[in-house]
Amino acid sequence: MAARLFLALLLSFSFQLCSCAPPWQIMTTGSYMTPEDHERIFLISPDTTFSCGFHRVGTNAFTFSIWYTAVKTVVWTANPYSMVNGYYSPVNIYGSRISLKHNGNLVLTDNNGSMVWESKTSSGKHTIVSLLNTGNLVISDSGNNTVWQSFHSPTDTLLPWQNLTKDTRLVSGYHHLYFDNDNVLRLLYDGPEITSIYWPSPDYNALKNGRNRYNSTRVAFLDDKGNFVSSDGFKIEASDSGAGIKRRITIDHDGNFRMYSLDVSTGNWVVTGQAVIQMCYVHGLCGKNGLCDYSGGLKCRCPPEHVMVDPTDWNRGCKPAFTIGSNQPHEDFTFVKQPRADFYGFDLSSNQSISFKACRDICLNSSSCISFTYKGGDGWCYTKDILYNGQVYPYFPGDNYMKVPKSFNGSASSISKQESLTCRPNGSEIMLGSANMYGMKKDSIKWIYLYVFIAILGALELFVIVTGWCLFFRQSSMPKSMEDGYKMIRNQFRRFTYRELSEATDKFKEEIGRGGAGIVYRGVLEDKKIVAVKKLTNVQHGEEEFWAEVTLIGRINHINLVRMMGFCSEGESRLLVYEYVENESLDKYLFGERSTESLLGWSQRYKIALGTARGLAYLHHECLEWIVHCDVKPENILLSRDFNAKIADFGLAKLAKRDSANFNFTQMRGTMGYMAPEWALNMPINAKVDVYSYGVVLLEIVTGTRVSSGIIANERQMGFPDFIQEAKQILATENINDLVDAKLKGHFDLEQATAMVRIAVSCLGDRSKRPTMDEVLKSLMSYDDEDYHPAYSY
Ligand SMILES: *[C@@H]1O[C@H](CO)[C@@H](O)[C@H](O)[C@H]1NC(C)=O
Ligand SMILES: *[C@@H]1O[C@H](CO)[C@@H](O)[C@H](O)[C@H]1NC(C)=O
Ligand SMILES: *[C@@H]1O[C@H](CO)[C@@H](O)[C@H](O)[C@H]1NC(C)=O
Ligand SMILES: *[C@@H]1O[C@H](CO)[C@@H](O)[C@H](O)[C@H]1NC(C)=O
Ligand SMILES: *[C@@H]1O[C@H](CO)[C@@H](O)[C@H](O)[C@H]1NC(C)=O
Ligand SMILES: *[C@@H]1O[C@H](CO)[C@@H](O)[C@H](O)[C@H]1NC(C)=O
Ligand SMILES: *[C@@H]1O[C@H](CO)[C@@H](O)[C@H](O)[C@H]1NC(C)=O
Ligand SMILES: *[C@@H]1O[C@H](CO)[C@@H](O)[C@H](O)[C@H]1NC(C)=O
Repeated sequence: MAARLFLALLLSFSFQLCSCAPPWQIMTTGSYMTPEDHERIFLISPDTTFSCGFHRVGTNAFTFSIWYTAVKTVVWTANPYSMVNGYYSPVNIYGSRISLKHNGNLVLTDNNGSMVWESKTSSGKHTIVSLLNTGNLVISDSGNNTVWQSFHSPTDTLLPWQNLTKDTRLVSGYHHLYFDNDNVLRLLYDGPEITSIYWPSPDYNALKNGRNRYNSTRVAFLDDKGNFVSSDGFKIEASDSGAGIKRRITIDHDGNFRMYSLDVSTGNWVVTGQAVIQMCYVHGLCGKNGLCDYSGGLKCRCPPEHVMVDPTDWNRGCKPAFTIGSNQPHEDFTFVKQPRADFYGFDLSSNQSISFKACRDICLNSSSCISFTYKGGDGWCYTKDILYNGQVYPYFPGDNYMKVPKSFNGSASSISKQESLTCRPNGSEIMLGSANMYGMKKDSIKWIYLYVFIAILGALELFVIVTGWCLFFRQSSMPKSMEDGYKMIRNQFRRFTYRELSEATDKFKEEIGRGGAGIVYRGVLEDKKIVAVKKLTNVQHGEEEFWAEVTLIGRINHINLVRMMGFCSEGESRLLVYEYVENESLDKYLFGERSTESLLGWSQRYKIALGTARGLAYLHHECLEWIVHCDVKPENILLSRDFNAKIADFGLAKLAKRDSANFNFTQMRGTMGYMAPEWALNMPINAKVDVYSYGVVLLEIVTGTRVSSGIIANERQMGFPDFIQEAKQILATENINDLVDAKLKGHFDLEQATAMVRIAVSCLGDRSKRPTMDEVLKSLMSYDDEDYHPAYSY
């Protein structure tokens, strides 16, 4: 009772220090704010968008932060790793507070009086602190000069018009977004044991990643239309680009950085752009020895005979369940195979063109070698003494082998399988949901509360929040976050009514295309956006199934894929709404009416080949769920105004009624001439059918003729197999000129053309020998001499 009275006195006392009514517009010297009053006393920006003050992160733990007033999303924190205690005790007469001292220094103190953070300013007694409409907290001196601003010391978030510069970086856990010494914007894992860059792809140099190393400005910012642009040429455009939307760029706890847009109607942040598409490429995600695996949803797991170091925290990885004596003879060891797995980087040695046995012996003979990866095709052997960045790749042409004692009889492997904690089951949903998780919604925060509370008492470590977060997912079966995830998807992606679409297309008047799946109409939505509306003819899916498939496709967002914007499902009608692509499909330009009036130049052809490969590689390898297109052909490759390839109709194979036991030739999708032989042979269909079709398309791009329908080359009618034979011979004799479209009149790049024919021939080979789209893309890219700028990086 006495304490409460005292508190009340204290409250009224703190009001007297500042005459303005709460919340405050400015803070003057001598005034201070305390956690006890955090709900009433805080700074607010003139337009009330942002607030700044004490933010509660645990029962008793507070940070001094800036947040979006409406949704309480924190965008900056003075003390992210050393929260102050909000508990006021008469024993500690101080109480935590943020005060603007008479010398102009803004100081944050804990309840025992120790200083936790300071602005290090000394601008005298006429200093004021104010929060601008941009979300920038500024300290200004008597002459109204800014002496300090929060925009110059970001934490994990960048607001519109806030510059990321050579002196600043965004940090979340062990993950950093920063400008490297070579002027390139990168993501780095900076862990306790290793440091490694994972974005842009460390497999390519800056140029191949579409980055410019020569602009030393080193500045990146988000403009008010949703373009995140960096001085090294990197750019993300928000999928909802346009002014008037509240956005932020945040590096999340999972090491990816994403652009979020606020949906004001629901108060949810929607992901509208991101750096790393496939989460397994984020280094450090599954810790030391851990493997990231995408099959059946994103998850981390331990290799055989290994167990998690800390069952609640994947960042700490796995440890062997056995011990190796220092002088243990190598006869005691054996290897356990991990199919298609590899640990990126940190090789002990690497040798090419050696046998599996030789590779195995090198590792066996070396006491420091604990594992090796062997690629059968070219006999590459990589031995390892430290295992990080482990990943199971769907098409990796090799396997990893873990060295384990022979005496170990595999009892641990079953344990480690069980422990394969799926921190983020059904990957995509959580990826989207993570915004809210860190946004710390009150009802989903209870685990974090617990951990923060413990941490405040003991030593607070960085990974605690991550731990709390994983625990939450594991133990609460996460209905809440799933719900949020779905909400976000719904927001990005609309369900239209039949009437809406009928009006948009003027009662389905203007037909712009016709394919196996249905007829496409041009439409104009209420917001004047031009769209393509596809009326599906062959869908027999039930409402719910259709919904599930379509939302999955709707989530796919890649520059080389035609974006689905929504759907309609009413009664028997099933319609899909797509972005409208300016130019027509590739076939029109290669052999249709446009082939003479506006001939595709060589560099345009090469760009289209590259873009198509990139889109397919994304579908096959990077997508949230791997998708086989099943109908790759020039008719399905649309061209944007600047002749970027955009693949249409992906994912539709899933919508067509298909009974795998009863899958016959007449029911199947695909187009004669582009279909891989296995379609006819009743073999299971996988991504290699697209590789085959891509090979045909590639030849058509080079030759400018309908290779697929039996062709006329050198005035001789040939069947397709003859043509492949001929192409092979031409390759051998290096007489590529004979194959290249005569309409180009010799204006083409010989090296690129040779590479394209060579790749095409390899795509058309036996299924087991066909390359993957990833490999196709890599080899094509190595002949690209233009500086390209992908909107998304791999
Ligand atoms: C105040 O508390 C913090 C953490 O609780 C501790 O690190 C610091 O040493 C304390 N300072 C004083 C002056 O007791
Ligand atoms: C301080 O300067 C800003 C612009 O730099 C201006 O908007 C503001 O009104 C000034 N404040 C005072 C008190 O002069
Ligand atoms: C960001 O940097 C540009 C120069 O690159 C500068 O003109 C602008 O004032 C900076 N913005 C802020 C908020 O510091
Ligand atoms: C470097 O980047 C900045 C910011 O994006 C841009 O304004 C400038 O023109 C670039 N300089 C060169 C030489 O490209
Ligand atoms: C493998 O490469 C290492 C150097 O990395 C070399 O010392 C060793 O002799 C090679 N082993 C074989 C079997 O080729
Ligand atoms: C490994 O050691 C065995 C015997 O200790 C030897 O016969 C073999 O040549 C060695 N292999 C390599 C690759 O060094
Ligand atoms: C092998 O497994 C059996 C039971 O399956 C167990 O009793 C035994 O201890 C194991 N041996 C070793 C060396 O782990
Ligand atoms: C998550 O994925 C699993 C297996 O893929 C599936 O059984 C489960 O229904 C999914 N959960 C949700 C909520 O979609």
